[in-house]
Amino acid sequence: MTNKITWRSPSNIAIIKYWGKHGIQLPRNPSISFTLNHAFTEMTLEYRVKEQQDNRISLEFEFEERDKIEKFRQKMVAFLESQLPIFPFLIELDLKITSSNSFPHSAGIASSASSMSALALCLCSLENDYLGYHTEGGDFLQKASYLSRLASGSACRSVYPTMAVWGECNDVKGSSDLFAVGFESEIHEIFKSYHDDILIAATGEKSVSSRMGHGLMNDNPYASARYEQARTRMSRLIAALKAGDIETFGQICEDEAMTLHALMMTTSPWFTLLKPNTLKMIEILRGWRETTKVPAYFSLDAGPNLHLLYPDAFEPQVKELINNELKQYCENQRVIFDTVGQGAVKL
Ligand code: PMV
Repeated sequence: MTNKITWRSPSNIAIIKYWGKHGIQLPRNPSISFTLNHAFTEMTLEYRVKEQQDNRISLEFEFEERDKIEKFRQKMVAFLESQLPIFPFLIELDLKITSSNSFPHSAGIASSASSMSALALCLCSLENDYLGYHTEGGDFLQKASYLSRLASGSACRSVYPTMAVWGECNDVKGSSDLFAVGFESEIHEIFKSYHDDILIAATGEKSVSSRMGHGLMNDNPYASARYEQARTRMSRLIAALKAGDIETFGQICEDEAMTLHALMMTTSPWFTLLKPNTLKMIEILRGWRETTKVPAYFSLDAGPNLHLLYPDAFEPQVKELINNELKQYCENQRVIFDTVGQGAVKL
């Protein structure tokens, strides 16, 4: 008999960035992110007991980007093998994973946070179903977050609604380097309906992967000052999130985006993922904000695309700015309009 589990898990955008790690995917500083809504992965895991037992992971993988299937399949097999000490029963099963992303192919959106958290959630559900466990609610999400972290660091923040904190910090009770914790209940209402419009400056393959970028932080001369700075900013940001202080939020958000990219430019060898159009859009946004006083601020992931973050009440003005002035600097005029989301859901 074949059984089926499906999870939908979203991407996230970090406001305080995780950049630099040690040990097995442990962060050098705490980070906090908004969980997104429309940018998600939907993953189905089918399983049945092998007819003939052997000692290997049996995985079939289906994905809409055909050229990436084998690469992703191998990555998943390696991850599942590394998890055998926790999930030894995986070798008893024939597994089939079917995965699809809501955002367009090669949109330059990091898909590892949504896909790896979806995989972790499917595995935790599989454990419940197959072994008859009853892990539920917060315990279930914490376990899925722990497992997501092992698969792809920042993915551990994706499972929670609205906002999540990953990494031990004094300001957040229960925070840990091992998994993320939800941070919805303490934030001001205004942040719960925030928008994140993603302006796609370029979609090509990144010249330097996140994995390499984290590695290069080990010899970055500014690393220890950076980790300290992230902690200080985290405290200030948490206070702003609780108070509904959107200006302080926005300033820290932009400072963090620029710091992330400055760190890339100060490693050896240096690299940059920014494109001329990224800077052009930043310049336009800044000028427009000074004139209109609309509190829309940007963030950047490890890539050239601009994330525009703003409260719901300013949607009409920001849409106008995007359509009239910013869109022309996007590849094929592509923009993904997203909002803060409710976290992962089992379908
Ligand atoms: O999770 P990774 O290893 O892909 O690293 C992601 C790091 C950033 O996206 C740049 C920042 C973050 O905290 O999400």
